[in-house]
Amino acid sequence: MNKISKLLNILKRNGLYPPFYRIESAGTNPEVIINGKKYLIFCSNNYLGLATRSEIIRAAERALKKHGIGPGGSRFLCGNIALLEQLDHETAKLVGAEDAITFPTGYMANLAIFKALMDPLIGNLPHKKGSGIIFSDEFNHGSIVDGCKLSYAKKIIFRHIDMKDLETKISTVPNNTPKMITIEGVFSVEGDLVPLPEVINIAKKYNAILMIDDAHGVGVMGEKGGGTAQHFGLESKIDIIMGSFDKALGGMGGFLAGSKEIVEYLRIASRSYMLSSAVPAVLAGGLIKAIKICETKKGLREKLFSNANYLRKNLEEIGFRVLGKGEIPVNPVLIGDEIKAIKFSEKLFRRGIYAPTYRWPMVPKGTARIRVTTMSTHTKKYLDTLLEAFEKSGKELKLIP
Ligand SMILES: Cc1ncc(COP(=O)(O)O)c(C=O)c1O
Repeated sequence: MNKISKLLNILKRNGLYPPFYRIESAGTNPEVIINGKKYLIFCSNNYLGLATRSEIIRAAERALKKHGIGPGGSRFLCGNIALLEQLDHETAKLVGAEDAITFPTGYMANLAIFKALMDPLIGNLPHKKGSGIIFSDEFNHGSIVDGCKLSYAKKIIFRHIDMKDLETKISTVPNNTPKMITIEGVFSVEGDLVPLPEVINIAKKYNAILMIDDAHGVGVMGEKGGGTAQHFGLESKIDIIMGSFDKALGGMGGFLAGSKEIVEYLRIASRSYMLSSAVPAVLAGGLIKAIKICETKKGLREKLFSNANYLRKNLEEIGFRVLGKGEIPVNPVLIGDEIKAIKFSEKLFRRGIYAPTYRWPMVPKGTARIRVTTMSTHTKKYLDTLLEAFEKSGKELKLIP
């Protein structure tokens, strides 16, 4: 305990302990109330503004009235209500897969998938325990890192979206070794989009299962919000698409989508699906409506992208370095030094902008950044307020000329 106190003291003394601002209003709206004061929020993943949309709330209310607040058990027991089967079905349709399995969080989906496919369920099926290798992008989300740990498979890291490095590493592995490649579709913290056609070619050439974590791509990328695979027109070429319901779809939960057979298998091989309660009906009811809106309201995505493009162009003009090429609607602004980034974020906060710092251990040391997320519900006035705060605070800290 002494050591824990010591650690906490060091973090707090150096201003490294996160502020955990207490939000007193809906944290998914562009304007939030903290300590009775109004702030503009630029860190929510509620990209399309669906979290508080009235049609979705009404659909959730109907499910809530019928089913109550909880599921009463896992899908194996009493949790397999019709609404959840409908959510599985609508989710699969959204991302262009044959079927899908849904989880209370995306994190739980990622905990399930690697073990299910790399650790034997019966005897040596599907593979001998510990014989598989997972090839994972160096900047993959922590939930992928944790999922891989549970799988008993060996993990080989390849450089971020570096297809040469991936191919060099995978080509040295014997042909009969069970292999899996895992990479995010949209790297929101790096500002990058996966080079999907190249990843698919490598997976096919070396007979590897391909899993794309599209937590930040679903709802955002593709004509109908089907995600990164839809953006590239390659839905049928991916073995497993993982996604989250708590970002563009505005709710909460996660899913794994793929062929009927893989999903049928995952229903009996995913520990976090079997050993934990189902997605509650209130969420399923709201999410089914959210998926419908996402598929049909293309204008929400257009507004999201035009907001993000406007910010990127102007942030760069002011003198900030924005990571990525503008292919995704998130603008991670690189600050570098952790302490400077924290001070910058505090200055923004004093100017009414809520945009926290991403820093080690979330990102490598010395690459602290502010991940500026836009929503389709941000107005031009909100964006200009952010730009003004960035410019003034950046000049004060000599981050920009
Ligand atoms: C890339 C990625 N994968 C998975 C997750 C986990 O999803 P969830 O928040 O639904 O647990 C996140 C959430 O931050 C994420 O960004």
